[in-house]
Amino acid sequence: MNTRFLDACWGKPVDRVPVWLMRQAGRYLPDYMRVRSKCTFLELCKTPELAAEVTIQPVDILGVDAAILFSDILTPIEPMGMKLDFVPGPVFEKPIRTMADVEALKIPKMETDVPYVLDAVKLLRKELATKVPLIGFGGAPFTLACYMVEGKGSKDFAALKKMMYAEPEIYAALMEKITTMDMEYLNAQITAGAQAIQIFDTWGGMLSPADYERYVLPYTQRLINGLNRTNVPVIHFVKGAGTMLEIVKQAGGDVMGLDWHINLGKARDILGDMAVQGNLDPTVLFAPKEIIEREVKRVLDENADRPGLIFNLGHGILPTVPPENAIYMVECVHRLSQK
Ligand code: CP3
Repeated sequence: MNTRFLDACWGKPVDRVPVWLMRQAGRYLPDYMRVRSKCTFLELCKTPELAAEVTIQPVDILGVDAAILFSDILTPIEPMGMKLDFVPGPVFEKPIRTMADVEALKIPKMETDVPYVLDAVKLLRKELATKVPLIGFGGAPFTLACYMVEGKGSKDFAALKKMMYAEPEIYAALMEKITTMDMEYLNAQITAGAQAIQIFDTWGGMLSPADYERYVLPYTQRLINGLNRTNVPVIHFVKGAGTMLEIVKQAGGDVMGLDWHINLGKARDILGDMAVQGNLDPTVLFAPKEIIEREVKRVLDENADRPGLIFNLGHGILPTVPPENAIYMVECVHRLSQK
């Protein structure tokens, strides 16, 4: 089995820099569209054999060094009692607005409420045994709260921010409940066999550093502290965190995920010996091959041979990227970092 990804998470030396892509299973791959055309997105998430199939597709097609479970950060929210649909963006029928709404939320029993997630993990460990490690994942409490309060995607998540400032006791009760759920959800994935965990905080960077510290950090910190982390590295990705890395670092975790707004070398100077993951601008994958190669080399140069680098995009791959460009990027990372 290829252990380059796990070795880099622990800051150990590697023969070449490991690489995977956030949202590497998805609509840019014709093979994904073939499976997806026969069912809805939620049916795909809830059928372990199909979820496993699309999880493995990018491993075989792109040659990446890790697989990430096919699911969604909002999968465990549905059994909390919130009806969810994807159109294709997520939509909750009845968003959380009052203390009564928060109190009505259930903490799911993972084994019986999301068995398909745990079954997909178990199946994948068997199917990936001679290939690459499996990453499990969940949303950070703040990003989950964004969708639960807003009810759908948004540019500014004003409903959530309004609750955070104007009704702090409702916000705190909601965040506590989500954190408890998240901890049980991620620990269930670890028990089922996930070999690393990534926490996605897609919207944490829309707060000021002071507000991040007050309204987000305590919850993510409690979450990460509560994970059964022995031998399971935790990657913490907060999009837009470049201006507050020393605060975000306090949440804990083994690897800091970086978006492309910060120079990777500067981020490493701030983070000390913590491993990092990132940070190519996802739109570089629309560029001609020479530019893709130049940008991969730039990120590797910024790292300057420090151990503990996992190459990735700074956010998810876009659905209109030509697959051959993603394949070329992976090849560039491996070739240019070869020891
Ligand atoms: O990385 C992977 O390959 C694993 C699968 C994965 C999905 N969503 C599949 C998906 C992961 C890790 C996620 C995480 C996720 N989901 C995040 C955090 C990461 C990020 O991108 O910021 C967020 C915010 C969501 C919520 C979500 N799910 C949105 C906003 C959307 C609609 C936008 C979009 O990309 O379509 C989804 C749907 C979704 N999740 C799709 C996939 C493959 C597309 C559904 C389809 O096939 O129609």
